[in-house]
Amino acid sequence: MTPTILLLVALILPFFIVIVSGAPYLPTRRRQVEQALDMLKLKPGQTLLELGCGDGIVIVIAAKRGIKVIGYEVNPFLWFIAWVRTRKYRKQVQVYWGDFWSKPFPSSTDAVYVFLIDHFMGRLHKKLLSEIKKCKKCIKVASYTFSIPDKKPEEQKGAIYLYKYSP
Ligand SMILES: C[S@@+](CC[C@H](N)C(=O)[O-])C[C@H]1O[C@@H](n2cnc3c(N)ncnc32)[C@H](O)[C@@H]1O
Repeated sequence: MTPTILLLVALILPFFIVIVSGAPYLPTRRRQVEQALDMLKLKPGQTLLELGCGDGIVIVIAAKRGIKVIGYEVNPFLWFIAWVRTRKYRKQVQVYWGDFWSKPFPSSTDAVYVFLIDHFMGRLHKKLLSEIKKCKKCIKVASYTFSIPDKKPEEQKGAIYLYKYSP
């Protein structure tokens, strides 16, 4: 393989690998982000964890509301864009490059935001159940487009499903 082809493969591969790890990249629309944040009802200073934060759009909108945000993104290019885009909020935002399935939830987590694909919602439910056991407080979860199987949402508005996990 020529260096150009190698470079192209290296650039494109992370966008496809995520199909087997969570979801391909597609940003949540601004209005839907506002809707999800309204439903989560986080106060300034509370912490939102975003699993697969893409280009950082959700983080920026949440940070503008005074919410602390921790984001994980496995695609190095998107991680870099999110990191640059959120630099102005560095005191309240942390963006990590990595696979969120292998990361424990930070103890400060008050809410989780996800936009994955249907196939991974069952696995997400198991992850949330295992993480909530270690928590002392409830965690609210907002999922865009896809519902969690076998779990009744507390609320649904448009394409946002809101869930509550209690320890
Ligand atoms: C549908 S996009 C949503 C992006 C962002 N949450 C939003 O709503 O605008 C899903 C994102 O999750 C990332 N992702 C998928 N699997 C992941 C994993 N296992 N760990 C971290 N990020 C992952 C993808 O790279 C992609 O950026």
